[in-house]
Amino acid sequence: MYSNDEILDRFWKAGREFLNTRYAIMGGAMSWVSEHNLVAAISNAGGFGVIAGGAMPPELLKGEIEKTKALTKNSFGVNLITMHPQLDALMDVCIGTKVGHVILAGGIPSGQAIKKLKDAGIKVLCFAPALVLAKRLVKAGTDALILEGTEAGGHIGPVATNILVQEIVPYIKEVPVFVAGGIGSGEMMAAFLSMGVAGCQLGTRFVCTTECIAHPNFKKAFIHANARDAMPTVQIDPRFPVIPVRAITNEGTKRFMEFQMETIQKYQNGEMELKDAQMAIENYWGGALRRAVIDGDVENGSLMAGQSVGLVKEEKSVQAVIDELVADAAGALRRLSNIPA
Ligand SMILES: Cc1cc2nc3c(=O)[nH]c(=O)nc-3n(C[C@H](O)[C@H](O)[C@H](O)COP(=O)(O)O)c2cc1C
Repeated sequence: MYSNDEILDRFWKAGREFLNTRYAIMGGAMSWVSEHNLVAAISNAGGFGVIAGGAMPPELLKGEIEKTKALTKNSFGVNLITMHPQLDALMDVCIGTKVGHVILAGGIPSGQAIKKLKDAGIKVLCFAPALVLAKRLVKAGTDALILEGTEAGGHIGPVATNILVQEIVPYIKEVPVFVAGGIGSGEMMAAFLSMGVAGCQLGTRFVCTTECIAHPNFKKAFIHANARDAMPTVQIDPRFPVIPVRAITNEGTKRFMEFQMETIQKYQNGEMELKDAQMAIENYWGGALRRAVIDGDVENGSLMAGQSVGLVKEEKSVQAVIDELVADAAGALRRLSNIPA
């Protein structure tokens, strides 16, 4: 007889040892959502909570780290966005507060940033959007990689999770490789674990948890949405770049298309300079995630969500979500390996 933990350890031991957790399940950082309550709840439930430090000034991040530490003795991480103007100061906060792991997101980080964190004894995880970049990041010293497919919520790349896993996992042996994007069930986790990933990162599934501070309207929108409602923002004209963000379509997303067309028209009529028009389009969503998550404005705010939103049916505790994922993943791996229950 083997316990669920023993079955799963055949697949994710390296991942959970790297994270220093019972389960190799990461709660993907979600701006405004992943604050100390959710992060600590995920870590207390045996997973790996991650503070979304991307939109925070250094003082706020310091406070969030301290509050998380007050709620959990378990391991957790901090997600930083590489283009944040205060990245250096944010890294200093992580070093000063002795955070165990930092996830560098939002573009390929500099070797200098990786080195600074590693020299301070922090484990560094980076996102790899292609094999060539995965190899480059390993050379630059990253301690682990995350592959995030286009099914994910928030800012996304163009390639599906299952393609990234097939492209990258067989060729990276030096560091653990985690996977994110479109994972909504234990069965899906089992499939990726059987392909050699070290663990899974989920974001969308953790929004509708009792410990998550998101506005009830935000959670209701998740419960009502189907997978096909979580769509990437569309760029109308390549001269006006739009970084794709996957979110549940609403009035705001419709208005964004009109706004792009009106702004481009103004540029074409000579009423606006190219730079100003580009800036206006870039800034359209400024503050929009906060409006939806905190204020509950689900019509005009940004309802960032992954396609796995279609699998979110109710609100439950973080522990219940993690227990379900673990039981279903272990069950699927038992079946695959012919191990009796
Ligand atoms: C509302 C929301 C906000 C997010 N914010 C961030 C962020 O600030 N930084 C980041 O690296 N990823 C962010 N993500 C991506 C998640 O960390 C995670 O990788 C992703 O949600 C995984 O895919 P899934 O949603 O299909 O589970 C966000 C996702 C959502 C849904």
